[in-house]
Amino acid sequence: MNATILPNSEKHYPVLLDEILSIISPQNGGTFIDCTFGQGGYSSSILKFKNTNVIALDRDPDCKLIAKKFKELNKERFLFFNKKFSDVNQIKKGNSKIKAIIFDLGYSYSQIKNPNKGLSFESKGNLNMRLGLNDFSANEVINKLGQKDLELIFKYFGEDKDSKIISKKIVRERAKSNLNTENLVDIINSVKKKSGKTHNATKIFQAIRMFVNKEISELIYGLINSTKILDINGILCAVSFHSIEDRIIKYYFKSLSEDKKISRYLPEEKNRNKLFQLKSKKPIIPTQKELTLNRPSRSAKLRYAIKKINLVNFEKDFLNKFSKLLEIENLSKKL
Ligand SMILES: C[S@@+](CC[C@H](N)C(=O)[O-])C[C@H]1O[C@@H](n2cnc3c(N)ncnc32)[C@H](O)[C@@H]1O
Repeated sequence: MNATILPNSEKHYPVLLDEILSIISPQNGGTFIDCTFGQGGYSSSILKFKNTNVIALDRDPDCKLIAKKFKELNKERFLFFNKKFSDVNQIKKGNSKIKAIIFDLGYSYSQIKNPNKGLSFESKGNLNMRLGLNDFSANEVINKLGQKDLELIFKYFGEDKDSKIISKKIVRERAKSNLNTENLVDIINSVKKKSGKTHNATKIFQAIRMFVNKEISELIYGLINSTKILDINGILCAVSFHSIEDRIIKYYFKSLSEDKKISRYLPEEKNRNKLFQLKSKKPIIPTQKELTLNRPSRSAKLRYAIKKINLVNFEKDFLNKFSKLLEIENLSKKL
């Protein structure tokens, strides 16, 4: 998940940057939206080109400080909003035509390492996991939600085979006293016994982070609402780091893009009303060189699509497809 930084180093390393730049062509100028500003890796690379403007968003209030420095350097060419990207269509963009919108999902190294955010199973103390602009924390999820609800969250968001037994143990243990991060890791370790290559708590922590930050609806509405404000021939790019995110992005682009031509003798009409054009159905992944420089980039997958027409009510099938995941996210209404 710590996708943009070299491990054990403070050096900033934006994932798949060269590939993104070659897709969105900032050398030709234009207005770009960076939905996940983070440390500003993508934004700064775009702003190096003349005649570019960047509108950046990030839900983490800690990004405001970096954004302030960007503003001082780039003046009216740069705007920052401390907003969730599901609200991207609500930002004031004036008359600008949006040439590309980029999502770099997940968390930055500085967020994972920030003890106050408590995103990692290496954190100590109170459970938190809020990135910013949240309604509740991991503490409430683990100490208040019912056993069945926890099981569903772990099963669908973490795809953890021990979801049932872990959720049962959580409910039993929290009856004695409120659970913190170390208690939760202990419970998971006691169920899973020995650790494999990845930490025992990886999947359960992923599930809780996704739930606390409503990552499913953020991604789904982020894609839908950015499509609405993208100019015709504008490009939507998304870098994901785990299979659920990639499944959502892949389905969105594929289901709304032109059909592969079965035969060159068939008429073109069939493709005329398609929202997107896809250049490739396969994701772009980091090169060996990038993997050597930045090991955490190994799970990154970049997909992109070109918007071809303006369509209304295109989102119904997409929302339907992922309704189960959205339903599980809605369990938070019980908090
Ligand atoms: C992997 S980092 C992006 C790093 C950035 N590309 C760079 O080069 O510095 C992901 C960022 O997305 C932000 N983020 C995650 N979910 C978000 C959401 N729903 N809305 C806005 N920002 C979000 C996180 O706070 C984090 O700063």
